[in-house]
Amino acid sequence: MNIELNHINCFYGSHQALCDISFSYPLGETIVLLGPSGAGKSSLLKVFNLLEVPTSGSMTIADLDFQFTQKPAELMVKKLRTNVGMVFQNYNLWPHLTVLDNLIEAPCQVLGAPKAEAIDKAHKILSRLQLDSMSNRYPLHLSGGQQQRVAIARALMMEPKILLFDEPTAALDPEITSQVAEIIKELSETGITQIIVTHEVDFAKKIASQVIYMEKGKIVEQGDKSCFIHPISKQFQMYLSH
Ligand SMILES: Nc1ncnc2c1ncn2[C@@H]1O[C@H](COP(=O)(O)OP(=O)(O)OP(=O)(O)O)[C@@H](O)[C@H]1O
Ligand SMILES: [Mg+2]
Repeated sequence: MNIELNHINCFYGSHQALCDISFSYPLGETIVLLGPSGAGKSSLLKVFNLLEVPTSGSMTIADLDFQFTQKPAELMVKKLRTNVGMVFQNYNLWPHLTVLDNLIEAPCQVLGAPKAEAIDKAHKILSRLQLDSMSNRYPLHLSGGQQQRVAIARALMMEPKILLFDEPTAALDPEITSQVAEIIKELSETGITQIIVTHEVDFAKKIASQVIYMEKGKIVEQGDKSCFIHPISKQFQMYLSH
């Protein structure tokens, strides 16, 4: 089933952060959100797991339908968040827990998974992301790139259908940025849908199957990755030429 937004509007007080956003994508795409600072990229990303609840419009995601004329039911939001994972820019790891404990916390506490099973799964995911030797370390004793990979590993523990990233390479050097791009490309081969906010055009080009370019809360241009080569709107052309 598609991920679909229909006429989404989002306000912070009187400021409209998202204006009439509509689109529909099949599952399995890697969708990159680009645009200048303040365009509404993070706001849009947060709509997908309802960290931001729109004032109007509707959304279909992970087999759930939301009509924003009414407040979404808590049970629906909970269901949504088990299917839609988020990797934050500042990693948001729990500093008082080891890497392993960061990974098993949500599966055990939220989903009630048996601890031994969760540990087994955590080791598999950690080794897939080349982090196995880090499992007993605390987040603050890891580099930024390692913390980012742990944050991705933690999100994968919930086996999300959809994974959201807000500027996953913001604080990373070029080599680590390429590693994150590789991880995202590998994940896309597993059929997971990924939606990624970034400022880095080169990084976006490496990973995107679909592109959304936003300004001032509106979608200015939208298309598959060929729009990096043939942007249609003046605004996206300008953005890419910077
Ligand atoms: N919690 C909030 N309260 C009030 N206004 C907000 C809030 N969050 C965002 N905004 C405003 O909404 C608009 C869109 O913000 P958003 O964070 O979505 O932009 P962005 O495209 O992610 O920008 P950046 O690239 O700087 O992260 C901005 O004008 C911002 O100031
Ligand atoms: Mg942002």
